[in-house]
Amino acid sequence: MSDLAGRRSEYETAGLDDSDLAPSPLDQWQTWFEQATEAGCVEPNAFVLSTVDTDGFPQSRYLLARGADERGFSFFTNYESAKSSQLAADGRVALLFTWLQLHRQVRVTGVAERLPEAESDEYFASRPRPSQVGAWASPQSHVLADRAALDARVAQMEATFAGVAEVPRPPQWGGWLVRPTAFEFWQGRPSRLHDRLRYRVVDGRWHIERLAP
Ligand SMILES: Cc1cc2nc3c(=O)[nH]c(=O)nc-3n(C[C@H](O)[C@H](O)[C@H](O)COP(=O)(O)O)c2cc1C
Repeated sequence: MSDLAGRRSEYETAGLDDSDLAPSPLDQWQTWFEQATEAGCVEPNAFVLSTVDTDGFPQSRYLLARGADERGFSFFTNYESAKSSQLAADGRVALLFTWLQLHRQVRVTGVAERLPEAESDEYFASRPRPSQVGAWASPQSHVLADRAALDARVAQMEATFAGVAEVPRPPQWGGWLVRPTAFEFWQGRPSRLHDRLRYRVVDGRWHIERLAP
């Protein structure tokens, strides 16, 4: 067993003050995302989405954010997947962005809704053809007999679309939009005295407050 308890790194990064933050948390997220990209963080648009299943268990998985604008965060997936069933039953979610190289995390809570069809069409059309075929072939989250069963489904879909110039978007594939209700920006600091600044809506405006680390 490796010595996880003994691993310790000091976070010497500069601190985070209320006055450093943009009034809009989405603008602040954008600044941190750009800094993570410049710093060479791997998959800087990756985040963990947490939902709750029908037994009440939290379920978390990584996704790639494909949009971040004044409405919130969007991602694309299979509408018949486990996550989509959970979102359809209860749209309340948590998102977690982590940029470990910068000793930063951003926690977001929000409510998910389906993206307009036109946005899903537009994004699907921009995907590489093998990914488009894969979206038709993979019954995401459902049990497969073996890998060969998946390969056979892919081969079948490749044959189906062989003479078709543009692979259409499958009806069971599309986007979700998470409209944020709260954010927490976390910046690692020395001696575990980290900075935590939370945005939540008070009287219709984003209000910032500091939390103990
Ligand atoms: C870095 C990373 C990015 C991912 N991005 C996506 C994504 O954008 N959409 C997606 O459906 N699955 C993505 N996945 C796979 C999901 O984590 C997950 O396995 C899949 O969506 C099925 O989840 P579910 O069974 O909970 O619905 C990604 C996985 C990783 C590790």
